[in-house]
Amino acid sequence: MAKTKTAFFCQNCGTQYAKWVGQCSACKEWNTIVEEIIHKENNIPWKDNGTQEVTAKPVLVGQINASREFRLDICDKEFNRVLGGGLVPGSLVLLGGEPGIGKSTLLLQIALRLNLRTLYVSGEESLKQIKMRAERIHPNNQTCYILTETKTQNIFKQINDIAPDIVIIDSIQTLHSDYIESSAGSISQIRECAAELIRFAKETNTPVILIGHITKDGNIAGPKILEHMVDTVLQFEGDRNYVYRILRALKNRFGSTAELGIYEMQGDGLREVNNPSEVLLSKSDSGLSGTAIASTVEGMRPLMIEIQALVSSAVYGTPQRSTTGYNAKRLNMLLAVLEKRAGFKLGAKDVFLNITGGITVDDPAIDLAVIAAILSSNADIPIEKNVCFAAEIGLAGEIRPVQRVEQRILEADKLGFSTIFVSKNNKIALKQPKINVELVSKIEDVVSKLFL
Ligand code: TYD
Ligand code: MG
Repeated sequence: MAKTKTAFFCQNCGTQYAKWVGQCSACKEWNTIVEEIIHKENNIPWKDNGTQEVTAKPVLVGQINASREFRLDICDKEFNRVLGGGLVPGSLVLLGGEPGIGKSTLLLQIALRLNLRTLYVSGEESLKQIKMRAERIHPNNQTCYILTETKTQNIFKQINDIAPDIVIIDSIQTLHSDYIESSAGSISQIRECAAELIRFAKETNTPVILIGHITKDGNIAGPKILEHMVDTVLQFEGDRNYVYRILRALKNRFGSTAELGIYEMQGDGLREVNNPSEVLLSKSDSGLSGTAIASTVEGMRPLMIEIQALVSSAVYGTPQRSTTGYNAKRLNMLLAVLEKRAGFKLGAKDVFLNITGGITVDDPAIDLAVIAAILSSNADIPIEKNVCFAAEIGLAGEIRPVQRVEQRILEADKLGFSTIFVSKNNKIALKQPKINVELVSKIEDVVSKLFL
């Protein structure tokens, strides 16, 4: 009988220690190290000692027979795109996100829409709760089974009976396996349950989607190794107070991680947003100062976003700078550039900046729109509704070129903008777009064209 083996794991980051310590040396958290019983490891020597049969042989890459990858269409354009064209059979997808963002809603919605046998396993909600949610989303579905169970062995038993085409687990942190003694949600339980599910997925070629909780600093709870084990890691994000949600891939073995899916949370589930620019721009047509529109690119998709700035005299000695959806340090840098290079005295002003729709953008190409919004609010002169911007600002106050400028110009053109400001140094090889492309190199050029 083998001795039970234990090890110490940091519950925050998953680092393993041989003995207890007070502070995790990897993530610097205190009192997070907990002893857990780990699976008995069978030490199989890498050399064939006669008892091991050889199962896999090296194959020349040219001789591998790879027919075109079959992809399961999951009836959700945005999700399909983020996955790289659909779900690959036998793959494991991990979906992470803040509590209440809509992970369960998104996956239940997919399970209900699909015309395949789906098994939705929930360890978090009761059958009644799920039924109520299902009623809201898609009231009549005949092929979706719901199971409330947390023990993996029991789940596999049910899977053997039902033989589902796709399995959804809500959530990996609530599962526990009999082979491990520690409690559900601990590092070694998560690892073991994920390993069992991976074995199941690969052996039966059934895709499995897992929901994962995230920790307070935004990482998926559990061992980092979980993210290495699965094929795809998706993140569902957005501001809970707004209706828009963004789905992005952080890791994808079967596609690009640059794609992005946008949803709108409604009373009856999540609606796919196929034309994001239109919803992110506010519809008001009265000219308000402090608003500018930027042409940004998220993943492969061009997106027009609205930036609002408010500049007012500071009430306190130290002026406030506050941002929503934009990096505050970058705002400070742009204000310094405006002060030093363009001579605008904003040192004694409060500056507030907001990207509408509750989305966060870190594309530097929105710099020029940020500056335009600030200057417009400062001078209290509105920018015309059909003008937009796509350029980065350098520390010397120069207007710098941005990537994929043609795509941005075309998107602005498509949405009916009449003028777009871009850097003089951008090489543009477009054949006569309808839109007027203003080439600028200094902030002063923009000011004189917009406000004088
Ligand atoms: P949920 O999927 O439970 O979030 P998660 O699983 O990520 O914790 O979503 C919860 C929120 O979504 C909840 O605040 C209510 C809202 N919601 C809607 O607005 N419309 C709907 O149709 C549904 C089902 C939920
Ligand atoms: Mg949930």
